[in-house]
Amino acid sequence: MNCRVGINLLLLLSWSIIKAEDLTNDGDGAHPARGQLGKLHEKAEQLIASLKVELSQLGASLTTAATAKTKQTGYPPSCLAAMINTDGIHTVRVAGLEPFPVACDTRTAGAGWTVIQRRQDGSENFYRSWAEYRAGFGNLSAEFFMGLEPLHLMTHAEPYELYIHLEDFDGETRYAKYDRFVVANESDSYALSGLGKYTGDAGDALSYHVGMPFSTYDNDKTRNRCALTYVGAWWYNSCQHSNLNGQYVEGGSYERKLSGRGICWKSWRGYDYGYKLTQMMIRPRCRAASTAA
Ligand SMILES: *[C@@H]1O[C@H](CO)[C@@H](O)[C@H](O)[C@H]1NC(C)=O
Ligand SMILES: *[C@@H]1O[C@H](CO)[C@@H](O)[C@H](O)[C@H]1NC(C)=O
Repeated sequence: MNCRVGINLLLLLSWSIIKAEDLTNDGDGAHPARGQLGKLHEKAEQLIASLKVELSQLGASLTTAATAKTKQTGYPPSCLAAMINTDGIHTVRVAGLEPFPVACDTRTAGAGWTVIQRRQDGSENFYRSWAEYRAGFGNLSAEFFMGLEPLHLMTHAEPYELYIHLEDFDGETRYAKYDRFVVANESDSYALSGLGKYTGDAGDALSYHVGMPFSTYDNDKTRNRCALTYVGAWWYNSCQHSNLNGQYVEGGSYERKLSGRGICWKSWRGYDYGYKLTQMMIRPRCRAASTAA
């Protein structure tokens, strides 16, 4: 089965289960004739049972390879292979690292995304050292960066795609998706060594950074000291079209002289705006979909 179809089907099925469970719960103490309600209840139960079976069969066929890995290690290698319809924090295992917790997202853009970066209220400091970006920092339930080393290991273990979700202070959301995402190893400064084709409505503000090493204030590879100038940490070029680890600016708009220092994604709201919410997420790329593309 086409993997993309599989993912969508899984979502649809889980939605149906929620609906069906709602229906059965609502039944208690409601007005329609008791017998009718009983039948409805029974029907819903059957539906739930059959959907659950289909769901687990689909899940199994979708993640056969991943499950094989899970059996060896006790932990899945990504959110896609983990409990596919569950948001929240799961433990994964990637070759080369001890098992570690990650945040999974099934709501923003479909099932199976591992969140690698989140900004939502400015509660976390993102102007941090190389060592901190290497290991990762923050709170998985709030703001955080997953870490360059796990990012490198994950994106080398299998092909990944990248989804960037942005929300402004007017409540509008946009996204940028790339069908390939590869982070190099530490000897190559965790460079953005691969980035696939862009789709989305936020514009492409990341291709400008392809091939660039990651820079922090204490390990800046750029000629212009971009990490210092733009008060962040990123795959700076000369210097940036995006700066998602920049300063959190309440309200979004800021003074011209601070241009680009915020959480910038140039191709949507330009250099003088910082977003309310960002989420960078990765997911193993569907083989069927990618060969078709
Ligand atoms: C992490 O964030 C959650 C949600 O905001 C909060 O409830 C929790 O206390 C935080 N944990 C730590 C260790 O700060
Ligand atoms: C890092 O990656 C480069 C390019 O793939 C490779 O040549 C090099 O051996 C790697 N270094 C380490 C320490 O793994």
